[in-house]
Amino acid sequence: MKIALSSQYFKFIVSAIILSFAVPVSAAEKSVPVSAAEKSLFERLGGTYAIAQTVDHLVDKIYENDGLNANPILKAIHDDKSTKAGFKVMLTNWVVTRTGGPQIYKPDMFGRGQPLKEGHAHLNISDREFDIIMNECKNTFYAFNVPDKEIGELMADLESFRGDIVTRKE
Ligand code: HEM
Repeated sequence: MKIALSSQYFKFIVSAIILSFAVPVSAAEKSVPVSAAEKSLFERLGGTYAIAQTVDHLVDKIYENDGLNANPILKAIHDDKSTKAGFKVMLTNWVVTRTGGPQIYKPDMFGRGQPLKEGHAHLNISDREFDIIMNECKNTFYAFNVPDKEIGELMADLESFRGDIVTRKE
C-alpha cells in the first residue's frame, strides 16, 4: 500500500512537470514563441499601454506616407477619417495577441479581426509597400527606445508575414 501510494504520487509529480512545460497548440500558433524561462514579448514590451502608444505613433506615420499613398486603395482608406481610430484598436489587439498577451484579436461580425492573409487580400500590396511599413515600424521602435533584442524579435516576426500580405508582384 505504501509503495502504491508513492508510485501514484510520483506519477502525479511527473505529469505536473510535463504539463507545466506543455504549450497549447492554439497559443503556440497565435504568439511569438519564447523559451520556457523567458518572459513573453508582451511583458518585455511593457504591456497594452506601451504597445498602444507605439501603434498610435506608427499608424499616424503610415497614414501620411507618400510612398504608401501612391497606391490608390491605401490612399482611399487613409483619406477616410472614419478608419484611423478603429485601425489603431485592431492593430493594438493584434500585437497584444501576437506577443503573448491576452488573446484579444478575434474575428467579429463586421469582417474585422481576420487572419492577416484574408485581411489584406483586397489591398493590392507590393514588396516595396511592405518594406515601407517595415521601415516605419523600425523607426517607431527606435523612437520609443525599444531595446535591440526586442526590435530584432519583432522585425523577424513581422517579416514572416510578408508572404501573406504581399499580393502585387512588380
Ligand atoms: C506584418 C505586417 C502587418 C501587420 C502585422 C498588419 C496588421 C494589420 C491589422 C491587425 C489590421 C486590422 C485588420 C482589421 O481591421 O480587422 C490591418 C489592416 C490594414 N492593413 Fe495591415 N498589417 C501589416 C502590413 C500591412 C502593409 C504592408 C500594408 C500596406 C502597405 C497594410 C495596410 C493595411 C490597411 C490599409 C488596413 C485596413 C484595411 C481595411 O480597412 O480594409 N498592412 N493590418
